[in-house]
Amino acid sequence: MKVHNVDQYLVYGNPIQQSKSPFIHQHFAEQTHQALQYRSQLAEDDDFKLQVRSFIAAGGKGCNVTAPFKGQAFELAQSVSEEARIAGAVNTLIFNDGHIAGDNTDGRGLIADLKFHQVSMTNKRILLVGAGGAARGVLLPLLAEQPQKLIIVNRTVEKAEQLAKLIDTPVKTCGVGFADLADKPFDLIINASSASLSNDLPPLKSSLLSADTICYDMVYRASNTPFNQWAMDNGVKTTIDGLGMLVEQAAVSFEIWRGVKPETVELRKILRAQL
Ligand code: ATR
Repeated sequence: MKVHNVDQYLVYGNPIQQSKSPFIHQHFAEQTHQALQYRSQLAEDDDFKLQVRSFIAAGGKGCNVTAPFKGQAFELAQSVSEEARIAGAVNTLIFNDGHIAGDNTDGRGLIADLKFHQVSMTNKRILLVGAGGAARGVLLPLLAEQPQKLIIVNRTVEKAEQLAKLIDTPVKTCGVGFADLADKPFDLIINASSASLSNDLPPLKSSLLSADTICYDMVYRASNTPFNQWAMDNGVKTTIDGLGMLVEQAAVSFEIWRGVKPETVELRKILRAQL
């Protein structure tokens, strides 16, 4: 067995070559003067859990998990955070004296990015588009900001309804279909659907927008995402994409493992320039 003299971390995924996590975590490590090594690791459906166990046996301290293994990581964890439980997905594993703890930092990453952009969610009317893994992952931290109302809208209505029923919150929350939305602008619309990935737009009416609506697409790319472009074409002043969320969810993982909160301003610029 190989013994390392610096703490080891990995990100598992398939595909994994495109992952920016090693770059992000090495940047955080240098910035905070932490001695650690962070690499990416390709896994397969039938060897992911095995790989994690051998990484633990080799002294690994923790790992990130990306598609398609977040569900398997949830199963592997012996204890999980409340966010991970609602999401049914784990993106951060923490190995401590043989115990495997699971967390999901996506939601805290989203909130940190919204706050970075000075977006307040308290008492606001929020529309969350999508009811898949990405939406589930951000639900609890969003509700913790105490919006006035949180509506989950999804193409498959039942999934939105089920998700709304899953949570116990004093915030007015409901799950609906696109046709059920009234013609009234929201303060914040978060696109957690995967529509932008296939260059598609969720079927949203422009009556849901005002110039002051903030539109956030969890997908990012060099050019505007279709959702953010649609918002801009309809007069929205502020659109944000998911690059900052990527950085912030990594910062939360880093802080969980290392107990130090990294700065994200510089890294945001570097990653944007690389797109
Ligand atoms: P992820 O992990 O990215 O959330 P997912 O769990 O497969 O992926 O969920 C994808 C989400 O995007 C779902 O809410 C899906 O809607 P359905 O549940 O009705 O399938 C939504 N979605 C994908 N393409 C879409 C499109 N073109 N318009 C609207 N919603 C879309």
